[in-house]
Amino acid sequence: MTDQYERSAEFVDIMLAAHWSALGPGLVEALHGSVGPIVDVGAGGGHGTRVIAQAVPDAEVVAVEPSPALRSVLLARVNESPELRDRVTVLPDGLLHAELPPQVGAVVAMNVIGHFAPAERHMLWDLLTRRLLPAGRAVVNLQPPAAPVQVPQARFSDLRIGRRRYEGWGRAEPAGPDQITWHMTYRTFQDGHLTEETAVKYAWWVLGEDRLKAELGEHGLRLDPTGPAELGMYVITRAPEQPGVAVTADARVCVGAGQCVLAAPEVFDQDAETGLVVLLDEAPPTPLADAVRRAAHRCPSGAVTVRNEVR
Ligand SMILES: C[S@@+](CC[C@H](N)C(=O)[O-])C[C@H]1O[C@@H](n2cnc3c(N)ncnc32)[C@H](O)[C@@H]1O
Ligand code: SF4
Repeated sequence: MTDQYERSAEFVDIMLAAHWSALGPGLVEALHGSVGPIVDVGAGGGHGTRVIAQAVPDAEVVAVEPSPALRSVLLARVNESPELRDRVTVLPDGLLHAELPPQVGAVVAMNVIGHFAPAERHMLWDLLTRRLLPAGRAVVNLQPPAAPVQVPQARFSDLRIGRRRYEGWGRAEPAGPDQITWHMTYRTFQDGHLTEETAVKYAWWVLGEDRLKAELGEHGLRLDPTGPAELGMYVITRAPEQPGVAVTADARVCVGAGQCVLAAPEVFDQDAETGLVVLLDEAPPTPLADAVRRAAHRCPSGAVTVRNEVR
């Protein structure tokens, strides 16, 4: 796998530092009461890993970081602190290929969700459903834009280290229905003169709150905002159990009007010859419960009955 951060790692970690002075307190609050192990997804140079370790004392932390360049920064940061060295494990893989603990207390995915294509996100939500402890949570942030639009060039970072000053610039352009391309330029100045310019680009999948909520709903997960709105941070938890439904359809009273099929085609069909109702699923999944209730309501003959059932 190529390292998207090979040329920019030198700048990415120092430029993320300022962002983390705002994100850090929000993440501490969002993790309050969490237990380990905690997975830091795309840990980068480890700003978030350090916050997680402080927020949840004694918890084991698994920092997953596929970029060798950023992982060098991460390992050095972890190694510098006896406290981190003792309980942070650094895994050199992409999240979906990493060997994670079977059960985790929290998953943190900061400044990273745009690296996951929609199909990969579904795998990530599935991973949460399978591995989060019952009271576990994930903490994510969404970064604008939420739609594939042009983002004009802007300076997002300006910092000095010794005699050198480092500027970070970024612009983006649409690259498909759900994707943008970020063009980043890192400029280094010494004594006021430009000494280096590094330009890189990477693909980013855009995602807004509504879509994220809908995706999570399909996996039995719920989304709640946390912290100051401008940070775009959210906590993901297991949705409370919804009552499912048990369905019956009585072909003896059915008049073949087909309203049930229109309302819930996954659950009802009509016999090809008689036009009478055929029940496809007696206990449809919870997300279909509303459609099934609609079918019962619209059925002119009262052939469809629906009973609530807690699953
Ligand atoms: C913008 S950096 C954010 C780093 C860190 N979370 C922070 O906020 O300081 C995005 C990180 O996601 C990592 N990443 C990209 N694809 C990934 C994947 N499939 N699994 C895990 N990490 C990934 C990158 O290597 C990079 O370190
Ligand atoms: S809506 Fe009622 S009457 Fe119409 S096909 Fe379905 S079950 Fe039969």
